[in-house]
Amino acid sequence: MKEKLEELYKKFESQVALMKNQAEVLNLKAEYLGKKGALTETLKSLKQATVEEKKVIGPLANDIKDKVQKQVSQKLAEIEKKEINQKLEKSKIDISFRDSMKDKGHFHGGLHPVTIIQQEIEDIFISMGFDVLDGPHIEDEFHNFEALNIPSDHPARDMQDTFWFHDDKTPDGKRHLLRTHTSSIQVRGMTSRKPPFRFIAPGKAFRCERTDASHEMVFHQLEGMMVGKDISVSNLIYFMKTLLREIFKKEVEVRLRPGFFPFVEPGFELDMKCLICGGKGCSVCKQTGWVEVLPCGMIHPNVLKAGKIDPDEYNGFAFGLGLDRLVMMKYGIEDIRHLHSGDLRFVSQFRGF
Ligand code: DAH
Repeated sequence: MKEKLEELYKKFESQVALMKNQAEVLNLKAEYLGKKGALTETLKSLKQATVEEKKVIGPLANDIKDKVQKQVSQKLAEIEKKEINQKLEKSKIDISFRDSMKDKGHFHGGLHPVTIIQQEIEDIFISMGFDVLDGPHIEDEFHNFEALNIPSDHPARDMQDTFWFHDDKTPDGKRHLLRTHTSSIQVRGMTSRKPPFRFIAPGKAFRCERTDASHEMVFHQLEGMMVGKDISVSNLIYFMKTLLREIFKKEVEVRLRPGFFPFVEPGFELDMKCLICGGKGCSVCKQTGWVEVLPCGMIHPNVLKAGKIDPDEYNGFAFGLGLDRLVMMKYGIEDIRHLHSGDLRFVSQFRGF
């Protein structure tokens, strides 16, 4: 009987080692420990054994039963662990998804070149202590015109063909419009802070214009303003040169020409040497060797007053950057209409930048 038990246990050991899943293990357990199991049957036959035999076989049989139980539990735990690991392996998240998709020739999204340049410029100005402001696309004529020293009978309103809203007016009777420039954020920025301050305000602007290679009805600008005490034109030139050097990653030659904008006095057109032809003359610079990039000037006292700032105490400069033009210069794009074409063949070229 003793040998029979030991043999049974040996057989169990060799069988359990081969088990591959929980069901197999549970079946094997039933084969040995179930009601009609081999071990159970053997133990039942103990009844006929002598007292002497029972004394030896009894503890041995119990011991074997315990060992079988233990091995079954161990095997089940081992199988469970293995299954969990297999599941984890299968559901592993591939964090290199972008690259692996690229390898397989799949398209993945990216930023539009205007957004890339806008973010780059924001970083440059943030590093120079500027705040970044946002403003509404739908403006009232006070913020877009009057506060900027452009009263309703001013000829400068004609310079900017405006999309007007014909319905609701503001409580003080002002008409609504789609902002024609990001300069409309100037007064909002001034009234919400105390000098000295400096901020930029990037965003879309809208004009009712015929489109061509250098004009779009929807385009992007970045307004900038710095207000403090004794600010001079050389401060303005310094910031503008730093900006252009950072954008184009090289020293950029600039020149100032007088320019008329009602909200600055004196006003300037800041040109940079054309990077496409190096100043020799090409279609981008209209054969002049220079490209107009930055209208700017010293803030008009009337604008400071509209912003609740005393012009006898403070002054400052302002500028308005055309982001689309800058993207065209930076990447050598000859037609502004590509930027809004929605053509994936065009925008996908910038994914790597
Ligand atoms: N708002 C002007 C435009 O859209 C650009 C501009 C010119 C902004 C001179 C300024 C500035 O801040 O000082 O044409």
